[in-house]
Amino acid sequence: MTIPNRWGLPDLGLGMGLRTVHYQHILEHWPSIDWFEIISENYIDTEGRPIWYLDQIAERYPIVMHGVSMSIGSTDPIDVPFLKKLKALAERVNAVWLGDHVCWTGVAGINGHDLYPVPYNEESLRHMVDRIRIAQDILERPLVLENPSTYLTFRSSTISEPEFIARMAEESDCALLLDVNNVYVTCRNHDLDPNEYLEGFPYDRVVQIHLAGHTDKGTHCIDTHDDHVIDEVWELYRRVMAEAGNRATLLEWDDKIPQFEVVHDEVRKAERFRQAATASEEAGHGI
Ligand SMILES: [Fe+2]
Repeated sequence: MTIPNRWGLPDLGLGMGLRTVHYQHILEHWPSIDWFEIISENYIDTEGRPIWYLDQIAERYPIVMHGVSMSIGSTDPIDVPFLKKLKALAERVNAVWLGDHVCWTGVAGINGHDLYPVPYNEESLRHMVDRIRIAQDILERPLVLENPSTYLTFRSSTISEPEFIARMAEESDCALLLDVNNVYVTCRNHDLDPNEYLEGFPYDRVVQIHLAGHTDKGTHCIDTHDDHVIDEVWELYRRVMAEAGNRATLLEWDDKIPQFEVVHDEVRKAERFRQAATASEEAGHGI
């Protein structure tokens, strides 16, 4: 079965996060990867080497922008100059879409350089929806927002995370990035069932999938992006591909980054699940 996304945004295939340690390899080999995702902030307010590399890579590969400091859940005013810089970068590299996370990253003008969770209740939902609408008006495109990895819950939360995200997306008309590793990490940390989490997830708004490795500390998991994807996360990915149809899929590897080919081989493991979804589609039934 394929549930098309509401905007007709393309299935880009299998991509990798663009990281500085791989710049030279990419320019020397032009590897057969389908697309790259960039951390938007790394290419804003710079005319140095990062943007020099990015301009060349963007000529050959589709680019998706993924940010870490929009702070859409914050109580600070919307940072309009920042959004305009994002928009300019998106135009420069012809970004297929751009997004950030369901989180806040700073307050009182201070960037905490981390992804902080928001309480899930009616008040925070209204707050997020209003801000997403404003951001989308400025950016003139749908925001693609990612479910976070979380390590705590709020007493003031009255709505489950997947319900909050579904309502937030519906009411703001934003797109979603479904990070299946984050689903696993969050569910482990809060003793939830990841399959229940995915029950009813609004796949018609999902335009991208993230895969990643994490660190299992026994009592909890940390979203470290420093290892291979574990089998349980691959199984969640298989389920999503089977239920939603193929989606642009990106592997995040951000710490202890190995050689390009190691990361590339890891994301190519996704092919077997994507082909399975495609074969099922052609046969006219789900798997
Ligand atoms: Fe992610």
